[in-house]
Amino acid sequence: MALLAIDTSFDDTAAAVTNGYIVLSSVFSSDLALHEEWGGVVPNLAREYHKKNIDRIIALAMKRAHLTWNEIDAIAVTRGPGLAVSLEVGLAKATELSNLHKKPLIAVNHMEGHLLSFLCQVKKRKNNKYSIPNSQQHTTVPFLKPEALSLDPFPLLSILISGGHTQFVYAREIGAYEIIGETQDDAIGECFDKVGRMLGLGFPGGKFVEQIAKEGTLGGIQFPVPMRHVKSADTSYSGLKTAAMKIVNVQKEANEGTLSRQQIADIACAFQDAALKHLIEKLEFAIQFVKKNNEANKLQSLAVGGGVAANLQIRKRLRHVGKKHGVRVYFPYNKKLCTDNAAMIGIAAAHKFRNNDFADSTQIDRLPNFPLGKLL
Ligand code: KG4
Ligand code: ZN
Repeated sequence: MALLAIDTSFDDTAAAVTNGYIVLSSVFSSDLALHEEWGGVVPNLAREYHKKNIDRIIALAMKRAHLTWNEIDAIAVTRGPGLAVSLEVGLAKATELSNLHKKPLIAVNHMEGHLLSFLCQVKKRKNNKYSIPNSQQHTTVPFLKPEALSLDPFPLLSILISGGHTQFVYAREIGAYEIIGETQDDAIGECFDKVGRMLGLGFPGGKFVEQIAKEGTLGGIQFPVPMRHVKSADTSYSGLKTAAMKIVNVQKEANEGTLSRQQIADIACAFQDAALKHLIEKLEFAIQFVKKNNEANKLQSLAVGGGVAANLQIRKRLRHVGKKHGVRVYFPYNKKLCTDNAAMIGIAAAHKFRNNDFADSTQIDRLPNFPLGKLL
């Protein structure tokens, strides 16, 4: 079962070809310079970029997968959540291709893609061909369990940490999702990006904050850890952003309007520490909640998804939580599968394909606030 998947939920134009959990190709492109001077993604610029690049990205994904349109069984596309004008470009292209090549259409929730991204298996290319176990032909590849997952990962608690979301989602199985907690204001990635901008780092700031934080030391600057006294798994990152702004202003005033590299590093380090403490404290609530309410379905694992999952400090702390609670911790195979990509959309669509869960190409419309599951 080979799928062409398309994601244009935000600024990345992404296409991939997948087969079960196997990623045959994954291509994406984004022009961050377009948005950098505004300090965030500008919807109209993103839409124009998608329109200009989508054909080229899809053609490249097909070429790298070494498949023809005859060998594609369905077309998967992100329906939401995301920027309405960006989503529209992907949906229009997917509908056009579905009609042209007479392939069924599958509509996917972008956050379900992030949630299942840890399942993606990437096969090394040999002589410019992907080697796929147990199969001669792409079209007969069985629905493989990732080698890393010899044990069933479900039920699991998903930690979705991206530029637009901070969510703890209980997944009893694929397709059965309950939101245990989520952000009340800014998402964790958004907060990293805003603090990165205050510190004069690149865009998006998350990875630059992580990088420079390595040069900083803890102890001097104090950030308040948010919502410590609220007994829930909800998060709030806007207070940390405000605290960072105050610290930056005070230090700049005392330093003729500039910050030294060491000051930037110390602020980044203290901010990151508080942001992670908040995430871990709320994760503990989410785990307690799941354990209390799901006695029969013992929690098997934690699965992490979204761009912020690329952060090595977060990975370290999440592994520690997993160890403490005796559950396995899964991350996407590489950083490119953490940030936005279409391979994860193909993985999520594979299950819909097996269940004949297809979309009506004459009626499909974008859902910028597409909910992932029931909010508890
Ligand atoms: O999942 P994603 O690509 O897009 C959304 O769906 O939002 O996530 C992008 C976010 C950005 O906020 C980016 O700064 C953040 O992920 N990010 C990081 C790191 N790498 C990417 N945040 C912290 N540390 C990182 N290493
Ligand atoms: Zn995303």
